[in-house]
Amino acid sequence: MEKKDIDWANLGFGYLPTDKRFVTNFKNGEWEEGQLVEDDTVTISECACVLQYAQTCFEGLKAYTTEQGKIVVFRPDLNGQRMEDSCKRLEMPVYPKEKFVDAVIKTVQANAAYVPPFGSGATLYVRPYMFGSNAVIGVSPADEYQFRVFTTPVGPYFKGGAKPIYIRVSDFDRAAPHGTGHIKAGLNYAMSLHAIVDAHDKGFAENMYLDPATRTKVEETGGANFIFVTKDNKVVTPKSDSILPSITRRSIIYVAKEYLGLEVEEREVYFDEVKDFAECGLCGTAAVISPVGKINDHGTDICFPSGMDEMGPITKKLYDTLTGIQMGRIDAPEGWIQEIPVE
Ligand code: PLP
Ligand code: COI
Repeated sequence: MEKKDIDWANLGFGYLPTDKRFVTNFKNGEWEEGQLVEDDTVTISECACVLQYAQTCFEGLKAYTTEQGKIVVFRPDLNGQRMEDSCKRLEMPVYPKEKFVDAVIKTVQANAAYVPPFGSGATLYVRPYMFGSNAVIGVSPADEYQFRVFTTPVGPYFKGGAKPIYIRVSDFDRAAPHGTGHIKAGLNYAMSLHAIVDAHDKGFAENMYLDPATRTKVEETGGANFIFVTKDNKVVTPKSDSILPSITRRSIIYVAKEYLGLEVEEREVYFDEVKDFAECGLCGTAAVISPVGKINDHGTDICFPSGMDEMGPITKKLYDTLTGIQMGRIDAPEGWIQEIPVE
């Protein structure tokens, strides 16, 4: 299989259509078989539930070329499970996680020429998603749905790759107490659009959201969870019912404990504590582990000792181990790596 002629090393986090995408429809109470198609457009009713009432959820995972030249995806079963959870909360039919994994594999396989080569710094981002597709005018769930998977080659989510970023504490909330912050609903991202445009306009790369009920605890950013490192090398990560249960964060916790022998605390993190941490990072599929150098709190900077030039030493160890597992350099725990057969 010949790779596409793409300048892999200079890709940003953008959309570049690839050859095939997976599509299946839910009608009369069941999912049809589904197929790979070339058409990258969607035609639906002007009154589709997704267009009127934002009935949609999505997932994000990546395919990598390993050091051994294999194409693999990272823990797709967990994305399948999270999508089931999102669908249930949004009154959408579940697309079973086994079928989800199968659809991901088929789509990556069909676009293997777009999986960036090992060492290029780029990956193939995989975006499964579902939406209510039939006309709904009274506020109620749709009866018909479409589930799709497309892929797009991507570079780093934040400009500058592994360079520390500068973020701010947001005065806007992305989630409500007892709302939908813990699932991957499109509406959560709509909530964050004004906040991110405003943050970028003011020179910040992201927003640190605090808990919407008391504004005293750290939640997450618009697209990643937080990890902190204490001055005595303990990894601390916020626990909250209104943040997305990041698969990257769950993997980092395991890597920190089992591969690096570090102590890990998953607990409520008060914003007042943040100034005392030695390192801070954002973790997610798109973000991987992006170091945070500074946080602006209403005009006052919290500067981490790791600074604005490089990742802190523990963050770097976590980053190297996690990406080492993803790229086949380090043995993975059982079930983390799914190989994609390619001719
Ligand atoms: N938090 C939010 C709001 C996200 O959108 C994402 C991205 O998926 C994450 C956290 C990280 O989750 P994961 O590591 O599963 O990609
Ligand atoms: C991901 O990391 O997969 C996400 O969905 C986050 C989004 C901000 C791109």
